[in-house]
Amino acid sequence: MKLKHFVFTTLALTALTACGSPSGQQNNNQAEAAQTETSTVPEYSGIAVEHTFAALPYAYDALEPYIDAQTMELHYSRHHQGYYNNFMKAVEGTGLENASLEFIFEHMSKLPTALRNNGGGYYNHSLFWSVLAPGGQGAPSPELSSAIEEAFGSMEAFQEQFNKAATGQFGSGWAWLLVKTDDSLAVSGTPNQDNPLMDVAEVRGTPILALDVWEHAYYLKYQNMRGEYVSSFWNLINWEEVNHRYLMAIN
Ligand SMILES: [Fe+2]
Repeated sequence: MKLKHFVFTTLALTALTACGSPSGQQNNNQAEAAQTETSTVPEYSGIAVEHTFAALPYAYDALEPYIDAQTMELHYSRHHQGYYNNFMKAVEGTGLENASLEFIFEHMSKLPTALRNNGGGYYNHSLFWSVLAPGGQGAPSPELSSAIEEAFGSMEAFQEQFNKAATGQFGSGWAWLLVKTDDSLAVSGTPNQDNPLMDVAEVRGTPILALDVWEHAYYLKYQNMRGEYVSSFWNLINWEEVNHRYLMAIN
């Protein structure tokens, strides 16, 4: 693939980092030294993507009683919208404005942190909304059930491992069910807004199920009881969407 050099000026980011720093001038000097970095990223040659902020596929109160309406409204209209808005600002001028998020994630380690945090937040929440449905929907397909049994031994063992990833994620982050490059399934956790598509992820693959374990996702209703929120999640899975994503990932 043809290579193209993208020059990313990280003035805004480094200025933000320096702001409020107790070390003052020293950090400013370090920030100035790092203001311009050159990264080599292959030129995007796929179909041009227009990044849009999609409507929530159900009403704010549709996931009651497991996820309350106020949490959903804040989560979607403030947090998710904020990640999208900031992603659009961060991608401007990089030459990647119409690149797919998958392409950006594949080269994440060479790109500005603002793209990692906000691109991740934008993508992860879109996936999260899509794999939820009021009261849950459908069941794991025979193909997905077989893959789950092969990878984890049983559906119960899979859920136990997923719950462990979700409750054990230190601080803010996500739990995932993903399809690895050999088409086998794995469970993982990622910090902040990282996801398994990113080249910085410990376990890489295509995510087909996601659970947001940031406090903004559950604190209003569950306070510090993340485990109860994680247990409630299983009442809301849109298995038809997960089945579809599984088939897309292995084909
Ligand atoms: Fe979130």
